[in-house]
Amino acid sequence: MSRAMASKVLVMVFSVVVLFLIRACHGTETDLLCLKLVQSSVRDPANNLAWVFDNRTEGSICKLNGVECWHPDENRVLNLRLSNMGLEGNFPNGLENCSSMTGLDLSNNNFSGQIPTDIDQKLKFVTSLDLSYNKFSGVIPVSLSNCSYLNLLNLQHNNLSGPIPWQLSRLNRLSTLNVADNSLSGEIPLFVNNISTHDVGNNPGLCGNPLAACQASQKKSSSGVIIGAAIGGLLFAILVIGVIFFFFCRKVAIKRKQKEVEENIWAKNIKGGKTIKVSMFEKSVSKMKFSDLMKATNEFSKENIIGTGRTGTIYRAVLPEGSVYAVKRLLETKHSEKQFISEMATLGSVKHQNLVPLLGFCIAKNERLLVYKDMPNGTLHDQLHKGDIERPVMEWPMRLRISIGAAKGLAWLHHSCNPRIIHRNISSKCILLDEDFEPKISNFGLARLMNPIDTHLSTFVNGEFGDLGYVAPEYTRTLVATPKGDVYSFGVVLLELVTGEKPTHVSKAPEDFKGSLVEWIQYLSENSLLPNAIDTSLIGKEHDTELLQFLKVACSCVLSAPKERPSMFEVYQFVRAIGEHYHFTADDDIYLQPESTEADYLDELIVAQ
Ligand SMILES: *[C@@H]1O[C@H](CO)[C@@H](O)[C@H](O)[C@H]1NC(C)=O
Ligand SMILES: *[C@@H]1O[C@H](CO)[C@@H](O)[C@H](O)[C@H]1NC(C)=O
Ligand SMILES: *[C@@H]1O[C@H](CO)[C@@H](O)[C@H](O)[C@H]1NC(C)=O
Ligand SMILES: *[C@@H]1O[C@H](CO)[C@@H](O)[C@H](O)[C@H]1NC(C)=O
Ligand SMILES: *[C@@H]1O[C@H](CO)[C@@H](O)[C@H](O)[C@H]1NC(C)=O
Ligand SMILES: *[C@@H]1O[C@H](CO)[C@@H](O)[C@H](O)[C@H]1NC(C)=O
Repeated sequence: MSRAMASKVLVMVFSVVVLFLIRACHGTETDLLCLKLVQSSVRDPANNLAWVFDNRTEGSICKLNGVECWHPDENRVLNLRLSNMGLEGNFPNGLENCSSMTGLDLSNNNFSGQIPTDIDQKLKFVTSLDLSYNKFSGVIPVSLSNCSYLNLLNLQHNNLSGPIPWQLSRLNRLSTLNVADNSLSGEIPLFVNNISTHDVGNNPGLCGNPLAACQASQKKSSSGVIIGAAIGGLLFAILVIGVIFFFFCRKVAIKRKQKEVEENIWAKNIKGGKTIKVSMFEKSVSKMKFSDLMKATNEFSKENIIGTGRTGTIYRAVLPEGSVYAVKRLLETKHSEKQFISEMATLGSVKHQNLVPLLGFCIAKNERLLVYKDMPNGTLHDQLHKGDIERPVMEWPMRLRISIGAAKGLAWLHHSCNPRIIHRNISSKCILLDEDFEPKISNFGLARLMNPIDTHLSTFVNGEFGDLGYVAPEYTRTLVATPKGDVYSFGVVLLELVTGEKPTHVSKAPEDFKGSLVEWIQYLSENSLLPNAIDTSLIGKEHDTELLQFLKVACSCVLSAPKERPSMFEVYQFVRAIGEHYHFTADDDIYLQPESTEADYLDELIVAQ
């Protein structure tokens, strides 16, 4: 056996052992218990839930009727679809033990009784809940408003009574709500998405938009009394509002004052700054202590803040000899010191010309600080959208060069770097520009730092999904970060470059258009008006063909079906081909690792956490 062969076998054996360990530790016994409890708590006259649990192999429950798993080799339920099985009885027991479940469909059965009031505890991560066409009675539980990932809520055709809890309007991801054919009453709350009469119809007691307006409870008596009461009421209301306003303003003022004082108190409270060392990955960089960082950032003063994001605040640090760094103070991370140092070693070794290099880090008490190279030209977002005299409108060749560099950096993260990294938060704000306007991607690897909890669901649960306008549509359903999700976000950045518009607000669109940049592009595309999207300041300068080609690449990245989007490597090849004749850079291509399929990333996520 050759040495290469031997090492391959070793690696294989090792992976099998690791995989086995991971499986063994995953504790998916809990999902097994969940299904057993469900089975034993419902009546099943048609014998549709003849589930048998004698196979102990991981993944065996995934073959059971109605069960969908996250992965076919793992006993972890993703969705439970028990529609139209003739089931009877109360809402099933044990669902809280299917702790990673995102979808529950009990529609078209004969379930009865109340919907549990603690349904938010039973279905913590539910994105789709369908209880339609049963006989559930009682009220709609208020706690549903805690199921903040809900996308679809269907309660049609039950025997529910009482009001629609106004708290449900807090569910800002809810795109489908149907409560028709019940006995609900009261006023319909305002929802972010318009609901139609079809969604609320056939509830004799409901009123308000989109149904008929609610009647004022008291009919008019004599008009004199009404006018008198109205004036009195108005005066009283003004008085109350005035008092509330006074106290509110005072409170805000006090709060603000406190906040200003507290702004950098965390830094001042760290004692012994001269002994806390800043670990640097490169020998060439001068040795630093925490006290040097304090001095360089003016004690982390507000004036030195150059950015804030969901992962932390960034300060500008100027050392006495003149070199400039960006120091990021991470928001609380849940890693132990040891885990953190090992994550840092990984991130410190990730180096590419289109990534912002991590130069070092510092652990001071509970604080975690990251030291990056400073990027003098700021973010792409500011360069594109905050034009003024000092920042003239960016010309097309510059925008194209930036897109090629950024695509290269991201493709490298996805396909060539080891371990492969999904960014999860690509936006024009995390693409920084160095002194030559060479783009560098920042903030990669941080999502993982912030979320060390044991399920890949947590990649999103703690934070948000990402910046508004950049989030791939499937994320609200699946909650799993994928490379294709990054491609979507990158597509939005490409759209920003070619249209000059912001992702959430399109200045060029008609007044009454409230959608995002992607929705506007979809609208134009459906009406064969796509060329109208291009930034007018770029048109007529002999780039028009390129602009259109570029726009098409951007559109392919933001397709709603992840499978139809190109890979990041393909995106890089496309934009590079469009810019070929400019000869921006010497051709040092990135290498594509052959086995970089989607499944690898998922496994990596599970293993990593
Ligand atoms: C099932 O869920 C209950 C309530 O959350 C919990 O107390 C119990 O430990 C879980 N059982 C297993 C095996 O995970
Ligand atoms: C148990 O399930 C696994 C995979 O689901 C299957 O390969 C195996 O044959 C099953 N074993 C028995 C005894 O049914
Ligand atoms: C519900 O039960 C009734 C009688 O018990 C039966 O006729 C009907 O088909 C059942 N409905 C469903 C959807 O299973
Ligand atoms: C939402 O969840 C929190 C925390 O578990 C709980 O305190 C609160 O009562 C819940 N709200 C509702 C309306 O159930
Ligand atoms: C609907 O619920 C009420 C109690 O809320 C009950 O009296 C009635 O029998 C139920 N109707 C049906 C058809 O189950
Ligand atoms: C919601 O309905 C109002 C009035 O019918 C309409 O003006 C508005 O455009 C609708 N909004 C959406 C997001 O459909």
